[in-house]
Amino acid sequence: MEQVHISEHPLVRHKVTLLADERTDAKTFRELVRELTRLLLYEATATLPVREVTYRTPMEETTGYQIGARIGLVPILRAGLGMVEAAVDALPSAEVWHLGMYRDEATHRPVSYYNKLPAACPDDVVLVLDPMLATGGSATGAVTVLKEWGAKQITFVGIIGAPEGIEQLQTAHPDVPIFLARSDRELNDDRFILPGLGDAGDRLFGTSIPEMTS
Ligand code: PRP
Repeated sequence: MEQVHISEHPLVRHKVTLLADERTDAKTFRELVRELTRLLLYEATATLPVREVTYRTPMEETTGYQIGARIGLVPILRAGLGMVEAAVDALPSAEVWHLGMYRDEATHRPVSYYNKLPAACPDDVVLVLDPMLATGGSATGAVTVLKEWGAKQITFVGIIGAPEGIEQLQTAHPDVPIFLARSDRELNDDRFILPGLGDAGDRLFGTSIPEMTS
């Protein structure tokens, strides 16, 4: 499992605990997703290539570094959208490509409903963003689509994963590193992560609407 990176950073552990707490309101939840994304990206981009450049400080000419790869960010709608802002802050020249997938409540299989990828992959490195890795179906499906598109180097960046999902993504795509803030215990019968954080999309977008009783 050397491709699986569960952050041990104290800031990540602290913030993911706040994130998962049921008392955390939607505004704070969104802020924490952004903060965690920033911290996780710091770890996930540690091996990006750099190239040396020559430039001038106000004092003299010197050499420094630029990121040496074209980067694509692929949030999986909806919940992945919560990670985009922090990711483009960290990688301002990255392109953002959207993939829409939801998990069918009966089959728990991912259903693709949006794909706005251009004809050919222009990026050297693609970062897939989705806070949740439950069964792993959505992430595995997204990576398959991205490989068919031509993406050569893909990294998955999430927040909470279940062992089942981590294993599925690793087995299907062993070349794809996985960066997470936390690995949780298991999935329940409805394929929700335990202890988890509930439904990330609903908590981000305030759509956890109680059933109408009349
Ligand atoms: C959630 C989550 C992932 C997926 C994870 O999305 O954001 O995309 O489920 O589950 P899996 O690993 O079992 O595929 P959901 O289907 O709730 O859609 P949403 O993002 O629109 O809320």
